[in-house]
Amino acid sequence: MGDFDALINTKDGIQSRRIFHDQAIYDLEMERIFARCWLFLTHESLIPNTGDYITTKMGQDNVIVVRQQSGKVRAFVNSCSHRGARVCAAEAGNTRSFVCSYHGWAYGIDGSLQGVPLEKEVYNNQLDKSSHGLVEVALVDNFCGFIYGCFDPQAPSLREYLGEAAWYLEAWMGAPGGTELIGPPSRSILYCNWKTPGENFIGDMYHVGWTHASSTQVLFSQSPLMALQGNASLPAPAEVMGMHFTSRGGHGAAITYGGRGGIYTTARENEMLLAWLAAQTPKVAERLGEVRAKFYNSAWDGTIFPNNSFLVGPNTFKVWLPRGPGAIEALTWTWVEKDMPKELKRIIARNMNQTFGTAGMLESEDADNMESMTQSNDGLVTRRGTLNAQMGLGREREDVVMPGVVSDAMINELSHRGFYRYYQEMLVAESWDELRANSSKWKKAHLER
Ligand code: FES
Ligand SMILES: [Fe+2]
Repeated sequence: MGDFDALINTKDGIQSRRIFHDQAIYDLEMERIFARCWLFLTHESLIPNTGDYITTKMGQDNVIVVRQQSGKVRAFVNSCSHRGARVCAAEAGNTRSFVCSYHGWAYGIDGSLQGVPLEKEVYNNQLDKSSHGLVEVALVDNFCGFIYGCFDPQAPSLREYLGEAAWYLEAWMGAPGGTELIGPPSRSILYCNWKTPGENFIGDMYHVGWTHASSTQVLFSQSPLMALQGNASLPAPAEVMGMHFTSRGGHGAAITYGGRGGIYTTARENEMLLAWLAAQTPKVAERLGEVRAKFYNSAWDGTIFPNNSFLVGPNTFKVWLPRGPGAIEALTWTWVEKDMPKELKRIIARNMNQTFGTAGMLESEDADNMESMTQSNDGLVTRRGTLNAQMGLGREREDVVMPGVVSDAMINELSHRGFYRYYQEMLVAESWDELRANSSKWKKAHLER
């Protein structure tokens, strides 16, 4: 498979096109990234009661996430210990047990094997039920109500995994009254590699004025993003409009100052949101300080490594589930603040569906780019080439208030470079100990020119 240092040139912001297509690289991604990283599962608000569950995937493994009697959330591989059939076919629900559809083995919500049909007659009571429970996901934890799981017991805590990104994410995930996801998620299949939407959402503000020129005109009549149309000029110096950050762990985002309230379709709806933001922003400032209050009031596009993306403004929350090197299943939720008026939640959900829902206008435009990015790298000769993420290279810096590495321009590829730097590190590192050892050095390495 070759040398991974040749796949990603972290110093110059160059990536090999092979990473979007080779099956061998994809297999290694499953082993080294998806079996070791924290992956988004669900939100506290979607499984509030004992026995509430959802089913999803971690990498290509099917899992059940279920609320226990104790209130704790646990996750199990959705595959029967007998012959491997699924034990839960539904996407979400409430149950006291999971019963396999093949021969009827029944599991408690704690994953233990409770019932085996004809146990006495066909097993002569010799089946050791205690060693035939469902395989458990090693780690499950939540950050501000967003629940993540990790297969690797050696992994750092979720908080540590989020690195400096946690400081930023608190600005919206930690909204004063809490958040909720509106589920179940909508689902769509895209014929693209899982990294292409991740890198688009992690901070590609460059494409907004070009790819989305006409839909922003139709939908975002009051948005500051309107000014970007046609990528012909910036309304203000790029630094004034926003920033980029990248953190340990490959997470990152572009933040467009003051943009959140602009992304609404009618004046009346916008007034409602603006009034909400005006009332909440001082509370955020009191709790988290002025800088994060400004972020709370801004529009964001970001990705939590490896495959969890979000927008603040259109309030989109997404997971890109890999299905081989050339396909993904995209899951999309609307996120809202728990104590928002019902009417405002309804408006936000409708707006999210118009823009980034399965048939949303901007989603369709992005999907076309993502599919073409993947499919055009299919050719043998094309794959020998490289891709460029050099925008803003050399302008990244440290800040006294904002953690991680930042750059003073929202149109930037700093967070792309951070994503692929960590991607390479994960593929190469044999263990979490090795990754931990690099943690003290990553920032210096990133800033080195
Ligand atoms: S495969 Fe599940 S009971 Fe047989
Ligand atoms: Fe887009």
